[in-house]
Amino acid sequence: WDAIIESIHGCTACELAQNCTRKVPGIGSREADLLIVGEGPGHDEDIRGEPFVGRSGQLLDRMLAAIGIAREQVYITNIVKCRPPDNRDPKQQEAQQCRAFLEAQIEQIAPKVILSVGRVSAHNLLASTLPVGKLIQQVHKLPGTDIPLKVTYHPAYLLRNPSAKAIAWQDLKLLRQMLQ
Ligand code: URA
Repeated sequence: WDAIIESIHGCTACELAQNCTRKVPGIGSREADLLIVGEGPGHDEDIRGEPFVGRSGQLLDRMLAAIGIAREQVYITNIVKCRPPDNRDPKQQEAQQCRAFLEAQIEQIAPKVILSVGRVSAHNLLASTLPVGKLIQQVHKLPGTDIPLKVTYHPAYLLRNPSAKAIAWQDLKLLRQMLQ
């Protein structure tokens, strides 16, 4: 595990590494049943070196709390470990270069369930281009593994579109069942 985290901190594979303030490998329990995968660090995460600590993160914490899960019980990481400038989407090549880190983290944690939040995460994990609204309609498996993968809306999307919270609540209830 330490080697994975160290190699993230030492990574210079793409342009994101040159422009970020801090690498954001992930946070939480290495024995977690639930692995949450977001898109990439934003402004607050880049400064703190921790994923989902800004407004989206606060909503994510409340979403987890609603199904009785504390942030400390899960592992939270992102598709890319460095902040894309101006919060642009990570490029395909950047996501690919960062992929080995995520795969190593998944192998070590061996989660029971993966929660993929938002379009960039879902598209990368599922190698799909379908809209999130479609991808949330069924439970997937992480390709190449037997790990069930649930897609849900990104908390940033829910902050902009509160009407989607009803669907996200259904996702969370299903997630709770999947973890039982
Ligand atoms: N949005 C993400 O996708 N990841 C973070 O870590 C923060 C905001």
